[in-house]
Amino acid sequence: MTQVRKAIIPVAGFGTRLLPISKSIPKEMVPVVDRPLIQHVVEEALAAGINEIVLVTRSGKSSIEDHFDAHAELEDSLANKGKDDLLKTLASIAPPSLKITSVRQPNAQGLGHAIFCAAHLLGEGEPFAVILPDVLVKPQPGSQTCDLGDMVSRWDASNAAQIMVEAVPEEEVHRYGIVDCAGNEPSAGESANMQGVVEKPSPDEAPSRLSVIGRYVLPYRIMELLSDQPPGAGNEIQLTDAIDRLMKEGSSVEAFRMNGRTFDCGNIEGWLKANTLLAREAGYEV
Ligand code: G1P
Repeated sequence: MTQVRKAIIPVAGFGTRLLPISKSIPKEMVPVVDRPLIQHVVEEALAAGINEIVLVTRSGKSSIEDHFDAHAELEDSLANKGKDDLLKTLASIAPPSLKITSVRQPNAQGLGHAIFCAAHLLGEGEPFAVILPDVLVKPQPGSQTCDLGDMVSRWDASNAAQIMVEAVPEEEVHRYGIVDCAGNEPSAGESANMQGVVEKPSPDEAPSRLSVIGRYVLPYRIMELLSDQPPGAGNEIQLTDAIDRLMKEGSSVEAFRMNGRTFDCGNIEGWLKANTLLAREAGYEV
């Protein structure tokens, strides 16, 4: 069975819900406590044993790549001043095992289109993870669980695609992909077989209240399905629709219910909450 070595992280969005912050700063570079959002997400991938990151990006967002690149002038200056702690902080951003590649999404045609922009970087038949960087997934306070790592282990054991989910109130189902587990919903840290997934349903059409969080472990076949995926909700090419087709053609897809907590940093209120809570947990007096 092929190992999951790559995570595709789409970062080409405009971040309109974070305006005016995100006018000239990529939303992925907005800080959460002491590091940019994208660094938290790359750390999550590394914790799950995934070292190869593919950024799907666009013009005006090169500071994301710069963040993971060497900065010789700064490093020399810190070394000359004997600032070893800061040098260590810089080195920890991109450990030697981390490999970052980027591709461009020439025009915004939806999440499915963004993911497909990275198809040629996968080996034949290679499975991959997708991480949507707006949402941080953190373990419960005091716990060390890594939900994405658990999803990779489940893929290794069963070869079933894994889609991370959490319950949302009924009035919020229209904002997410909503999964159908035919009533057999997984408990935290467990997976259950899915039989469908719908992008942004109305409360009447929603098959459950389990929403897709933005962490996926997917087989290569998804790329083939995306290659001719017609536009869906919002007239965009939806990853959700390709996952639904994967199930309909008989492949196993499971909903993995996270153990941890989510912080939606894609809007001002969620981002402020993440900063306040996580800063306190890190020992800052705020
Ligand atoms: C995307 C996905 C959706 C998922 C959501 C999680 O939607 O299409 O299925 O539930 O991310 O944040 P977006 O937020 O890009 O509209």
